[in-house]
Amino acid sequence: MIGRKALVAATGVVMLLFVLAHSFGALSVFTGPNGINAYAQALQNLGPLLLAFRAVMVFVLILHVTFAIMVTATNWKAKPDRYAVRRTRVATFAGETMLWSGLLLLAFIVCHILQFTLHATPDVVIRIDAQGRLDVFAMMRESLRLAPVSIAYLIAMSALFLHLFHGIQSVSQTIGLLNEKTKPMFQIAGITLSTLLLLGYGTIPLMILAGMGVFGK
Ligand code: HEM
Repeated sequence: MIGRKALVAATGVVMLLFVLAHSFGALSVFTGPNGINAYAQALQNLGPLLLAFRAVMVFVLILHVTFAIMVTATNWKAKPDRYAVRRTRVATFAGETMLWSGLLLLAFIVCHILQFTLHATPDVVIRIDAQGRLDVFAMMRESLRLAPVSIAYLIAMSALFLHLFHGIQSVSQTIGLLNEKTKPMFQIAGITLSTLLLLGYGTIPLMILAGMGVFGK
């Protein structure tokens, strides 16, 4: 059981690092078309390395989801009267909804890859910029300008917030770092990181919808 939980924690940390790194890439949209198009082209230039990285991340995601569902199912079986337990347990909303925020994020990741990596959704506009690169700036702006797309992103970012809010504290417990002394520290780390990611990622659809800054030109 500990082995499974450790695997969920380790794969969760790997994906947290990805989400942090990816936020810098996505936020480069605020530097304008040149910044984000150059960044996306640099990624494409990695060639087979990018393919290998993608394969590893898909494997990590599958492990995380599979073992998280197994751990949750075992917990539910161990506590068949879990509603009675809930009444007496101090559990946060984020902790109680980990499975649902996780499944929502999984649905988001599938749609997001279909949209921005595979360009397979009808909202995607493909243009080539003056330097002959894929115009990722225009692609993001044209998609997120559609209110339903932006709203779906904001819902997914809220799920990411809830998932990380609880997940970061949960990891510290699994690896045995959580005690009365360190608890406030991990709580602050969880709240700070999840809030920063919510604000960072959330600003993109909001600014595009409002047509502000670089998106107003
Ligand atoms: C406003 C928020 C976001 C924006 C604007 C955004 C933008 C993008 C873009 C433009 C790409 C395609 C990159 C390329 O192929 O050149 C991409 C890929 C991707 N994004 Fe996001 N992203 C956002 C949030 C997220 C979040 C929260 C996650 C994870 C929970 C995520 C996971 C991914 C993954 C897994 C890929 C595929 C990476 C690849 O193609 O190798 N994204 N994103």
